[in-house]
Amino acid sequence: MEDRFDFLVIGSGLAGLSFALKVADSGKVAVITKGSLNDTNTSYAQGGIAAVTYEPDNFEKHIRDTLIAGDGLCDPRIVEMVVREAPLQIEQLIKWGTHFDKESDGKYNLAKEGGHSEYRILHHKDNTGYEIQQALAHAVKVHPNIRIFEYFFAIDIITQHHLGKLVKRYFPGIECYGAYALDLKTGQIHTFLSRVTMIATGGVGNIYHTTTNPLIATGDGIAMVYRAKGIVDNMEFVQFHPTSLYNPGERPSFLITEALRGHGAVLKNHKGEDFMLRYDKRGSLAPRDIVARAIDNEMKASGEEFVFLDCRHLDGNDLINSFPNIYSKCKSLGIDITKDLIPVVPAAHFLCGGIQVNEHGCTSIQRLYAAGETAYTGLHGANRLASNSLLEAIVFADRAAKHALNSIKSYNIQENIPQWNDTGTTHPEEMVLITQNYKEVQQIFSYYVGIVRSNLRLKRAMDRLEIIFNETEELYAKSKLSQKLCELRNMINTGYLIIKMAQQRKESRGLHYTTDYPYKNPSNANYE
Ligand code: FAD
Ligand code: SIN
Repeated sequence: MEDRFDFLVIGSGLAGLSFALKVADSGKVAVITKGSLNDTNTSYAQGGIAAVTYEPDNFEKHIRDTLIAGDGLCDPRIVEMVVREAPLQIEQLIKWGTHFDKESDGKYNLAKEGGHSEYRILHHKDNTGYEIQQALAHAVKVHPNIRIFEYFFAIDIITQHHLGKLVKRYFPGIECYGAYALDLKTGQIHTFLSRVTMIATGGVGNIYHTTTNPLIATGDGIAMVYRAKGIVDNMEFVQFHPTSLYNPGERPSFLITEALRGHGAVLKNHKGEDFMLRYDKRGSLAPRDIVARAIDNEMKASGEEFVFLDCRHLDGNDLINSFPNIYSKCKSLGIDITKDLIPVVPAAHFLCGGIQVNEHGCTSIQRLYAAGETAYTGLHGANRLASNSLLEAIVFADRAAKHALNSIKSYNIQENIPQWNDTGTTHPEEMVLITQNYKEVQQIFSYYVGIVRSNLRLKRAMDRLEIIFNETEELYAKSKLSQKLCELRNMINTGYLIIKMAQQRKESRGLHYTTDYPYKNPSNANYE
């Protein structure tokens, strides 16, 4: 099957849907997504979206907080651009139907999270992402130019390689003509041809055993672009959220928003100590890299599997009203957050690196854009400031849409693209070999590529991954494709990049901490 569109959007989170809505008045748009429309990280976002709204906050403070969190590796030009464009994009979200909580005087109720010097997080209770996702999903469904393909798994983007031409990495003339996608309901492989393609496939949390990310986050877009010889960077910086609910066996791990600490909750160890003050004067509200590492250290020192979040000193009714989702989740497990300590543990949460893009969301491959968590824009540097991710997604989707609308006239649909050829392949005899390798990848990353790294751990990870890589490539070459097999392959490709870039960074900075190089190398920083 072949279908032709002006714009192909891969991914239905905030980045993908907002891009689709911004280009849809100018052409036919396909949105393909591997789950249901709302199966996204976006739907899970709790805390909110950062933007300067009222004094005493101002752009300079938001810029400074982002740069400090990024630990010397943000691109200051991109930080300033995103922070200044935030208020306009918030207005756009509201126009699409998102509601942010307000005070009785009509002003927005702003929350605070780690690393923020002011209250600046716009939110909808403790389920902001779901609110945004619902609003955008409704808007795309009613737009006459947007066609939604749920349960379509993008396998690879189409480039000159598929026309039989040799394509080299960093070659500036690589072009994207669309993507091959597996229709998960029929098993058929569909060719989507497009004049412009947007990759908005989100993050890679599932490479770790313990993650806040839903199952869709397997690094597919990054792997596709890497295989197509596009540029991917900054992959060593994987963010662990300090406070996911300790509930062994639950996947994804349920997040306890940082906004709860912004509301006054305090981290405590098993002795009841407010241990964060020993690590950073900002205490429980220090940036995430510092808090996650401190918790890791406390757990290793005590041998315990979790620490606690203490809300018992806060007003109970206010807590229930502000964090209804967290209250009812904890209650369902017998924890009353107004009276009991909440057991928490760090979990893989966000990838700061990804597909390299410029300030217009253009990747190194022509006719291909990337936005959202899959993209490396320069905003986050070595560590993302809380609630800057939804912001990055919507700002870059907007910029990419403007750029694509200007450039699309010079692109035609590429003819003579071959259909996917899977002759000679068969269904894998033992699916268990795929699922077992999937679990092994998660173990490798959890044991060896976690919050604290070392040369030995990274080498061990690379050696183990290589074995699984070879087994999986062999299987891939002879098998009919399945979602699990493709995801495993993508996790291996993305994981390889994480380990390789971690090995190349011979210092400790932001989210990358290694016992072999415990200090920063000042000459690596972009700013003081
Ligand atoms: P996503 O929303 O993850 O969407 C990715 C889409 O791509 C999905 O539709 C998926 O199905 C699709 N896809 C992936 N691979 C393929 C493929 N091969 N073929 C077809 N489709 C594919 N950030 C904040 O700023 N504030 C917060 O409060 C916040 N809270 C968070 C809480 C949790 C629990 C989590 C997990 C994350 C949170 N984040 C938060 C991070 C933020 O939610 C994400 O970074 C952001 O939503 C990413 O949006 P996105 O559009 O890039 O990707
Ligand atoms: C949270 O609510 O703590 C998550 C915020 C984020 O990841 O930006």
